[in-house]
Amino acid sequence: MIDTHLAEERSFWTGWQESWDHQQEGYLPDREERFSVLAALVGVVADGAAPRVLDLACGCGSITSRILGRFPAARVVAADIDPVLLRIAAGVFEGDGRVTLAEVDLRLPDWPASLPAGPYDAVVSATALHWLEPDALKAVHHRVAGLLRPGGLFADADHLPLLATPSLDLVAAALTPPSDRAGEGWEEWWERVARTPQFTELLIKRNRRFGGELHPAEFTPAAGWHLESLGAAGFSEAAIVWRRGPAAVVAALR
Ligand SMILES: C[S@@+](CC[C@H](N)C(=O)[O-])C[C@H]1O[C@@H](n2cnc3c(N)ncnc32)[C@H](O)[C@@H]1O
Repeated sequence: MIDTHLAEERSFWTGWQESWDHQQEGYLPDREERFSVLAALVGVVADGAAPRVLDLACGCGSITSRILGRFPAARVVAADIDPVLLRIAAGVFEGDGRVTLAEVDLRLPDWPASLPAGPYDAVVSATALHWLEPDALKAVHHRVAGLLRPGGLFADADHLPLLATPSLDLVAAALTPPSDRAGEGWEEWWERVARTPQFTELLIKRNRRFGGELHPAEFTPAAGWHLESLGAAGFSEAAIVWRRGPAAVVAALR
């Protein structure tokens, strides 16, 4: 009886994670490919098969799930500001000793203090750091360098356009697979959250954090800006290692 209840509870939360994934894939049809690139990069610096990974701005823990799928012995810290998305992650990873969740605001200087102490082998992030203003993102690059072991890796998949070649950017963007906008979109997904009693209090907390906005800043400089910022943060190497149109994965070695 108790097992049935636990199974139902787990499937409730995994259902929310899956619907988040579908919603995001509607905007980013190659999202899984980006996640595969991140996981492959973690493999490059994995300490044996048990890397210590930080999933930064983790949402509901989608990347954490992919990392654990590929490295079952990994230990992952998944950190985000959003109490709704973290609640979903908590339900998905309940009882999984490999995963630690942390509530952090990357706009604040002391966010690493809320995490289990480093060093980490890899810090990964996707579709998230464009929510930060330029100075906050530079500071995050510095803090991430401080969390990594020497030789550790940072990888960020996001909108990192070329900008200096606008016509080529347009051509490259046309090569991106078409998005499936038939499914539930961002607004509809959040409306469904608002209709779900389990989220009522958390949504109030979320709205306070983001000042009522569903999606705050949108800072998407050219890829070169990221390379420069990572160099200034003390990374020994930084490069774009994957690109499709304006979407790219930037990787950096400490
Ligand atoms: C589009 S979601 C991507 C989530 C996840 N990486 C994924 O791919 O599914 C952007 C994430 O950035 C998080 N985020 C935005 N601003 C943040 C901040 N200041 N501190 C921590 N997380 C933040 C949001 O809460 C959200 O989970």
